[in-house]
Amino acid sequence: MKLQNKTALITGASRGIGYAVAECFLREGAAVAVCSLTEQSAAAAKEALLKAVPAGRVYAQRADVSQSADCEGFVQNAFREFGAIDILVNNAGITKDTLMLRMKEADFDAVINVNLKGAFLMSKAAVKFMMKGAEGSIINMSSVVGQTGNAGQINYAASKAGLIGLTKAMAKEFASRNIRVNTVAPGFVSTDMTNALSEELRAEVLKSIPLKRFAQAADIANAALFLACGDASYITGQVLAVNGGLYV
Ligand SMILES: NC(=O)c1ccc[n+]([C@@H]2O[C@H](COP(=O)([O-])OP(=O)(O)OC[C@H]3O[C@@H](n4cnc5c(N)ncnc54)[C@H](O)[C@@H]3O)[C@@H](O)[C@H]2O)c1
Repeated sequence: MKLQNKTALITGASRGIGYAVAECFLREGAAVAVCSLTEQSAAAAKEALLKAVPAGRVYAQRADVSQSADCEGFVQNAFREFGAIDILVNNAGITKDTLMLRMKEADFDAVINVNLKGAFLMSKAAVKFMMKGAEGSIINMSSVVGQTGNAGQINYAASKAGLIGLTKAMAKEFASRNIRVNTVAPGFVSTDMTNALSEELRAEVLKSIPLKRFAQAADIANAALFLACGDASYITGQVLAVNGGLYV
């Protein structure tokens, strides 16, 4: 097992990629602390994770990553529960897609606040505890759209491109503490987020993916596992694209 005796925090883990990362890390021996937007969805995620890995150690609570008090609270509770924080996956993310001229300022702010500021707030809260250990790994969930841009998603693309800059700067700031910071940039993944797209758009996107399929959440979890574990001990400040060749 690659994460034996490690403790991992995963945001936005009630479903989709975040849940898959939590289950993967749990199977690899980590104790996992997960948060999502509602108490109910966090509790349901805990129940499902323990069903999947009955011997696992799971802590779950509601926390909105765009609120600094929620981030501080989640990190403190997880530390109290497990006594260490080794890994943080900043996965929580939202979309509010529309063309720029129709985009409301509030929708721009909301996406930046969750996707980008949320990673800043959660990382700031977690690194204080991570520095107590000998090493750490932070993984920010970006997107292919942060690398290429996409019409109708200027808020989302800006937030995801911002995460790449955040990753590189944090990697430089925390390298001396042996805390590695990397980004996973998924392409199109079959989750609730992409299920919301129209059938036509999904078919159109599929044509442009060389591997001819959408990713499964487990494909992304495996990339996160690699960056989280000792196999990536000399990798920091990088963007690992998991996009089926969509953008090379
Ligand atoms: N699905 C894709 O194709 C795809 C592609 C590239 C990147 N991503 C990114 O991967 C991440 C996960 O995507 P997904 O498809 O699993 O999404 P999803 O919509 O299925 O799940 C999002 C999760 O984030 C949580 N969340 C939302 N806002 C939150 C907040 N303010 N605080 C805490 N939790 C919050 C939700 O409760 C949920 O658990 C996102 O950052 C997304 O941008 C997804």
